[in-house]
Order: sequence, then structure tokens, then C-alpha cells
Amino acid sequence: MIDTHCHVYEEEMSDYKDIIEECDKQDISMIVNAVDIESSKDIISLSKTYKNVYAAIGLNYDTIDRVEEKDLIELEKLIKNEKIVAIGEIGLDYYWTKDNKDKQIKYFKAQLKLAKEYDLPVIVHARESVQDVYDILKEMDIHKGSMHCYSGSLEMAREFIKLGFKIGIDGPITYKNNKKGVEVVKNIDLKDILLETDSPYLSPEPNRGKQNSPLNLKYIAKKIADIKELTEDEVIEITTNNAKELYNL
Ligand code: NI
Repeated sequence: MIDTHCHVYEEEMSDYKDIIEECDKQDISMIVNAVDIESSKDIISLSKTYKNVYAAIGLNYDTIDRVEEKDLIELEKLIKNEKIVAIGEIGLDYYWTKDNKDKQIKYFKAQLKLAKEYDLPVIVHARESVQDVYDILKEMDIHKGSMHCYSGSLEMAREFIKLGFKIGIDGPITYKNNKKGVEVVKNIDLKDILLETDSPYLSPEPNRGKQNSPLNLKYIAKKIADIKELTEDEVIEITTNNAKELYNL
């Protein structure tokens, strides 16, 4: 199994080493996502130490206020490291604030450009910004990546898939009353779905409220299997292939 989006590194969780080692025993690999230059460096070093860790590097919305032009130069230098499989997570978030919208858009576009230059997929965060994100991806001709922790409508999910994107499904799919999420999973093809946890956040049931880890991926796979009336093994096999194909693992 592959957790295609998590934040398993020191700053986010103190027991990250134990978790990575336990995942290795259970044959779980992970794409660890950065939010700034510091975490990008940490994750690159983890990917060199652990064979089941791959790196996604990038500057994210929640660190955007302190991002400077020189960070883009630094990011480009880091891209040349081995085991970097994507630029992520990047994107737009209008839930917390729209005040820095112009800066968010500027750096989102700059990183999309970088991804294109280096032919890397992108891992995209969109919260209350789905239309803007879609318009920018389309305008910049970006066709390779995933919509991480997708929470939009079925209609928009289909538009992202048409662009060439995969839809990342996380713990909230297991929450009661997530009708929108269930509708999306039910009506899109399994070949367009990626499993992810966004650890240490968003633990699925039955571990909701506790620290999340890629070890919980099985609960997300099980829920998708239930919704699509498939076996858990079928869900794992196909979504693992989706991840391998997209991220060249
Ligand atoms: Ni994330």
C-alpha cells in the first residue's frame, strides 16, 4: 500500500521514526509532503534513510506569509535530489484567509511552472478555492498530479479527472454523513483514486480524534471497497498501481 500524502516527519510527529519502521514491516510506502524549505530538506533526508519514504517538496499556503523569492531558487536546487517524486503540497486555501490570495496564487503558479520544467506531478491542496485552482491548472496546461484530500463536488472531480488528475481520498470518507465524499467515490472510476491519510491529521474511523498515521490507510481502503462493492484487496491493488504510475515509483 502507498500513502500518497502524509506529513510523517519530526516537526509534525515525535514518533515518526517508529511509524516509518512499522510501515516498512507492513509493506506500506509513503510520499511525505513538505510545507516549506525546512520540511523539504527534512523529508529529502528521510527519503535517503528509509526505503519506504518518497519525497514531495514545496511551499504551502500555511507557510506562505513568510515565503520569499529566494525560497523558489532553493526549492529548484533541492529538486535535483533522488527520490523526489512530486512538487507538493502546493495550492490555494481561502478557508483560513483570503487576505494573502495574490501571494498564494503567485507562488502556486511559480511552483506549477517548476513542476512542468522538471516534468514532475503536483500534489494540490484546494480548500474553498476549487474553481481558482482548476482555472489555474487549466490555464497553465498542467495534466499530471493529484487533488489531495478532495472535498469538492462530483461535477468538479470529473473536471479534474478530465484534466488528467487523480482524486485523493482520506479519512473523512469514513465519517458519518459525508454524503458528498461518498457520492464522489461511488461515481468515479477506481483508476482515478489515490489513497492518502494526510497524517498526522484527519484520522479515519475507528481512530478519529487520535494522531493519524499511514498505518490507518486500511480503513480508508475498506470504506472505498464498501462504497464501490469491491474487495479491499481490489481497492488496494488498483490504487497502488495508480500511485506507482503517477509518481513513477
Ligand atoms: Ni497535507
